[in-house]
Amino acid sequence: MVDAFICPRCHQPLRTEDRFCQQCGLDLAIEATIGELLAEYNLPAGSEVPLEPEILISRLGETLVAQGKISPQQLEIALKYQADQNAQGRLVRLGQALVEFGFLDESSLDEAITLQILQLQQALKRANQELERRVEQRTKELRQALLRVSELNQVKANFIANVSHELRTPLALLRGYLDMMKEGAFGEITDEQAQVLDALLRSATRLEKLIDDLLLFAYAERGELTLTLSKVRLQEIAGQIVESHRYAAQAKGIRLEARIEQDLPSVHCDRERIAWVMSELINNAIKFSSSGGKVSITVYHQQGLITVAVQDQGIGIPAKRLQEIFEPFHQLDGSTTRRYGGTGLGLALATRILEAHGCQLRVESEVGKGSLFEFSLPALEEEHFNGSSR
Ligand SMILES: Nc1ncnc2c1ncn2[C@@H]1O[C@H](COP(=O)(O)OP(=O)(O)OP(=O)(O)O)[C@@H](O)[C@H]1O
Ligand SMILES: [Mg+2]
Repeated sequence: MVDAFICPRCHQPLRTEDRFCQQCGLDLAIEATIGELLAEYNLPAGSEVPLEPEILISRLGETLVAQGKISPQQLEIALKYQADQNAQGRLVRLGQALVEFGFLDESSLDEAITLQILQLQQALKRANQELERRVEQRTKELRQALLRVSELNQVKANFIANVSHELRTPLALLRGYLDMMKEGAFGEITDEQAQVLDALLRSATRLEKLIDDLLLFAYAERGELTLTLSKVRLQEIAGQIVESHRYAAQAKGIRLEARIEQDLPSVHCDRERIAWVMSELINNAIKFSSSGGKVSITVYHQQGLITVAVQDQGIGIPAKRLQEIFEPFHQLDGSTTRRYGGTGLGLALATRILEAHGCQLRVESEVGKGSLFEFSLPALEEEHFNGSSR
């Protein structure tokens, strides 16, 4: 016998198939319905409220009159009697009063109550069916809306991929001719012209990066982000990337500090993409810091993981906006007079790349104090580090 099946009135064990308690005859179906109603109206279960079928019938008197079982006058007499008795501290139910006056016999009362309960159950069933129908309808609508959104996302990703491809070709042509011109293929150039050509080439490089980022984003959105995995020494790429950002940091008056452990195990990752992530993080750290600030890059080994951390003393990010920064094309400074430039793709792509590697980008930040972005990749075991491969 399972403990859960105990009669709420006489506390004797029940069998699951019983409708009535074998010991005290309690109607368990009515009891359950009463329980549901108590829960629905947030009433405390237990002895405070007498668990009788009559509690289910809020307007028993009117119902009995409508059914022709009693007259309106008899109802009035019984109600007055009930009120008098209640005032004297004796709790009398209306049905009981009607029976005591002989206006109604027990079985007619039971019949009326049962009928009303059945009607209530029917109404409840109809309401449930209607509710289920509406839930089904809403679910269908939501599924269609979701499908539409994913179709639109696909269209957006395809559009970005196509436009980016189309932009690449003329840009490659421009860069080609600019390079040739700078090398003097079309005649001698003056120093002034060389400076102009350098500026044009820098712009071409920026455009190329933007196009590459857009393409990468489009691939990631279509689930086509592929990784070329190899054994990589993160300390090496970190060192190279720090060097490539030295000039930008210096130009802004920012101290770039690298604390990179050299004797570290390798990791398994896509070298180019992880380098891209590091570059984005350092780029952001410099971009969102002001002159006199410090940006430090740390690479260390702890508990089987190689962690890359980029810390700045820049503007910081409000705690409640931390989630937003990972959304594509989203920048916290959304004003038209944006101070910092960029398209808002860096972190969205960085998270996708890291997720594809099975790791996450962690962030801690405080407004006005600075931010810390870091990620960790599992260190390869010693034998791999020593050169043997799987
Ligand atoms: N180190 C940081 N300090 C303060 N805010 C940051 C930092 N890094 C990112 N953010 C906030 O998160 C937003 C999104 O960053 P994300 O790198 O995705 O875009 P972006 O740098 O604005 O543009 P893009 O990377 O495409 O050039 C930024 O616009 C900025 O508001
Ligand atoms: Mg960025």
